[in-house]
Amino acid sequence: MNKRKADQYNDPNHNYLKYWDGRDYENAAEEIAIGRLLKGKHYKRAVDVGGGYGRLCIFLENFADYVTLAEPSQQQLDIAKEFLKDHPEIDRKLLQAGDLKFKDSSIELLTMIRVMHHLPDPMPEFGEIHRVLSNDGVFILELANNAHGRNRVKYALKGKSIPSEPVDIRSPENQREEEIPFVNHNPKTVIEQLQKAGFKVEKVLSVSNLRSTTIKKFVPHSVMLSVEKLLQPSLARTYFGPSVFFLIRKK
Ligand SMILES: C[S@@+](CC[C@H](N)C(=O)[O-])C[C@H]1O[C@@H](n2cnc3c(N)ncnc32)[C@H](O)[C@@H]1O
Repeated sequence: MNKRKADQYNDPNHNYLKYWDGRDYENAAEEIAIGRLLKGKHYKRAVDVGGGYGRLCIFLENFADYVTLAEPSQQQLDIAKEFLKDHPEIDRKLLQAGDLKFKDSSIELLTMIRVMHHLPDPMPEFGEIHRVLSNDGVFILELANNAHGRNRVKYALKGKSIPSEPVDIRSPENQREEEIPFVNHNPKTVIEQLQKAGFKVEKVLSVSNLRSTTIKKFVPHSVMLSVEKLLQPSLARTYFGPSVFFLIRKK
């Protein structure tokens, strides 16, 4: 394993499963986005890269015969063993995005959700994903979006434009070499990086558009999801949401 190993996710004090408590809206918003991007499609082999404890793997079974959870943290894989106990058909592998070990062009559906946060320079990972993805395969990428609506107002009030490079969002005390990187990306830069790696972005969705503790407190879950469904495509062009999903293919 190289230095990209996700040590934070091996820390017994960091329980990523608990992180999802109170985030049903975000979880459902992501499933809506993936479902929309994959509507009507079914593949032989799917791999969820950096899939954590397998949060999305069961959902991915709707779109593929075989699903593999590829994850570099042993602790996440251990949690996955319990989380996926009723789904023994889902394979769990200790793997990093930059070294996926699969054969060339062998994977038809590859997802990488909430991992870009930890990849300030994703080019080596994009190169590896390009290698393993089949020629007619699809790659669904989620990125933590620095150009989201609220940030755009913040930058504008300071008379600044959204930076093209990734922005470190760690607290000052965590901005140290030994800590896992935590960045937000500019979607336009990521599109250019994907192009350089031999990909083209076919579809874009703006996701978790209503992420706000206040809205969650007062608006019923079902209403939030109905609105979210409408907003995902309509706000995509402006990258409004804190999370952006791309449907990507090889050029
Ligand atoms: C925020 S969690 C997201 C987990 C899962 N994709 C989800 O959405 O529930 C980030 C995950 O990325 C993994 N990760 C960090 N660096 C990675 C890398 N270089 N390659 C693959 N996965 C990585 C971590 O181990 C962790 O499980």
